Amino acid sequence: MRVRITPGGRLEGRVRVPGDKSIAHRWLILAATARGTSALVEVPASLDVRSTAAALAAVSPKARPALQAWASNDAADAEGHSSTWNVRVGEWVPTPLEVEGEGRSGLVEPSHDLDCGNSGTSTRLLAGLLAASPFLTVLTGDDSLRFRPMERVAAPLRAMGAVVETTDGHAPIAIAGGGLHGIDHHTAVPTAQVKSAVLLAGLDADGITTVTEPAATRDHTERAIRALGGPVEVDGSTVRVERFQHEGFAGTVPGDPSSAAFLVAAAALTGSELTIDAVGLNPSRIHYLEVMERFGIHAEVRVDHVEVGEPVGELWVAPCDGISPTRIEASELPLVIDEVPVLALLASHAGGDSWFLGAGELRVKESDRMTGVADGIIALGGHAAVEGDDLVVAGGGLEGGLGDARGDHRMAMAFAVAGLAAQRPIEVDGMEAADVSFPGFVSTLSGLGASIEVVSA
Ligand code: S3P
Repeated sequence: MRVRITPGGRLEGRVRVPGDKSIAHRWLILAATARGTSALVEVPASLDVRSTAAALAAVSPKARPALQAWASNDAADAEGHSSTWNVRVGEWVPTPLEVEGEGRSGLVEPSHDLDCGNSGTSTRLLAGLLAASPFLTVLTGDDSLRFRPMERVAAPLRAMGAVVETTDGHAPIAIAGGGLHGIDHHTAVPTAQVKSAVLLAGLDADGITTVTEPAATRDHTERAIRALGGPVEVDGSTVRVERFQHEGFAGTVPGDPSSAAFLVAAAALTGSELTIDAVGLNPSRIHYLEVMERFGIHAEVRVDHVEVGEPVGELWVAPCDGISPTRIEASELPLVIDEVPVLALLASHAGGDSWFLGAGELRVKESDRMTGVADGIIALGGHAAVEGDDLVVAGGGLEGGLGDARGDHRMAMAFAVAGLAAQRPIEVDGMEAADVSFPGFVSTLSGLGASIEVVSA
């Protein structure tokens, strides 16, 4: 799908974003392996989360009916919230997803390979879960997924006792699980996916499992295990777990702060004030607000409640009157790893050079975001360069033109938002990729007042 964004205008209103996909993957895995019933609300209808639900349906007979029905249901409202049309009240209402579980021992060998689609998180988290299950599973996915590194997750799971074979370091990954023992794992690169995979495996391993990271990453797995009563301890950069079987639980998935980042950027580039409700405010996910503050974008957050260990509340963005350049240090990069595309496009509108240091991991995301972002900025009339593992974006604004999403949801949305402050319209090819994490992105943005129209299907 190609869209055209015409610069200018003001955004106005209060908005919600679809549920957080990082949290949804984890809660679905925990629900399908709980003893008893879990009730989850606002599970996002994004493609990545559907991949996790469909894979869990294949290994969990008890959870299968609900997960299969949910994963193949197209019912989402225009803003991407998973909803059902309620005939009685005549409106869309959130669909709670009720998942039955029989504990981890209730999982069975799947009758087919598990297709994780575009989702690296599904693949790595499920690898951790299934490494503890005494049967054979094969995890695979689309072309982008089969290019992403999988030895980083296979190696620790092997060290715990599972038989894990990658395909030259990539998916398909074959796992013959069971009989795990704890290990002390030090991740070479900071990655929440690998940390979480090892922790999920550690919940069904003999002895103690620890993971130590070189820099902090998102901590949703730790929070969820703790909220369910599990033995998880955090000591500096080390997390420790032991065997634990949890019971069913209930929770509403907070809005995805990484999706909210695109709307915060859209507000900033149009000098608008905006409020986002019911959004996840986990500190390991909203570091981008500190970076934006350095850009001159002021936002305030207010936590109003906690869901399964996750703080949730309101995010308010003040009108912004210009972007200043900044430097993102290598130590903070893992905390903004998913926001680099939108931060880089914001930087292209700053009055000077911005640096993203130690950003090499961007090369192994859904696309090579290091070159994709730099090439995209140049194609839109701006200036950017890759210097080793650093990305430098020269400010001065964008002229306009055509941005190629390269099949990557976050690149598509970053280019679209950047169009709001370009000199001429920006067109984005591949806008449909947004459905991977933010179904309803185009209608949400246009509902707020942005001029974004579909040029071709
Ligand atoms: C995720 C972790 C991040 C992030 C991805 C989701 C997660 O990857 O890029 O979109 O849910 O754990 P890494 O921390 O593995 O780099």
